[in-house]
Amino acid sequence: MVFETKQKKVGRNDPCPCGSGLKYKKCCLGREYLNNDDIKKSYFKNYRIKLKGSADIEAIKKAGRLAIDLLDMVEENLRPGMQTDEINTMVHNHTIRSGATPAPLNYRGYPKSVCVSLNEEICHGIPGDRVLREGDIANVDVTPILNGYYADASKTFFVGKPGPDALKIVRVARESLKAGMAMVKPANRVGDIGWAIQNLAEEQGCSVVREFVGHGVGFEFHEPPQIPHYGQKDRGIMLVPGMVFTIEPMINLGKKELHILADKWTAVTSDKSLSAQFEQTILVTEEGFESLTPYDLDAPLC
Ligand code: MF3
Ligand code: CO
Ligand code: CO
Repeated sequence: MVFETKQKKVGRNDPCPCGSGLKYKKCCLGREYLNNDDIKKSYFKNYRIKLKGSADIEAIKKAGRLAIDLLDMVEENLRPGMQTDEINTMVHNHTIRSGATPAPLNYRGYPKSVCVSLNEEICHGIPGDRVLREGDIANVDVTPILNGYYADASKTFFVGKPGPDALKIVRVARESLKAGMAMVKPANRVGDIGWAIQNLAEEQGCSVVREFVGHGVGFEFHEPPQIPHYGQKDRGIMLVPGMVFTIEPMINLGKKELHILADKWTAVTSDKSLSAQFEQTILVTEEGFESLTPYDLDAPLC
């Protein structure tokens, strides 16, 4: 989703989000605490975050299973010479066949059922007559709505055999998502996720896109909170069990700057360098996290 400023943070001296009235550092900081009604109420009141219960989580998991199936289907059928619109047709038809709805279609005027972003395209590429060529990288981003619940996931695929640059940016983008996920546990904060991602990507000489961020998801396509893929440790909203959000780092091989094409959607790197992205829908659990779109992030890259 598009980054919007105006993020509230919980400081050590702020009121504890559990609603006790104590300072956060005197109360829940560093302590495991339960997904009780008070937290649910205060997270909604303070941040408009809707924590998910077990029935919600089961339903999002089912949508997530479909998201993985869609990505698997695209991967199996991807080949040089194919138009990106053929990917749209496959995703659209399989979504409908499965009793679901593609969330992108008509979302804020978006005209297709999936985003397909090639090479220098960062995100929100609109499927059309562009043809996949040997050596391209293609991010495919799907969001099915099943029984009213949303799951959001994407992967970057190689078209044919990748060159060294393609291999590098896809590897770094996938590692970035893993590094972000590894920070997800109760009492960590939103800033820890972005910090871990930025560290990893910049260490590899790559850059992190700022204008698009991860987001709460499940009841709607884009819910609070925003999850930036850069930032500082120990800052931002505290993670609590029942939060569901995406992590979806967009990593550029060159500079972080972007612009939007005349179609008003497609974001491209300003220096025309390659950009890659991986996205999963993540649940905060008592122990840490669980992916609700759990495709393998350790499989051989090609
Ligand atoms: N799936 C994208 C995300 O990860 C959003 C796409 S919005 C669309 O948040 F309208 F372009 F589909
Ligand atoms: Co998303
Ligand atoms: Co997405």
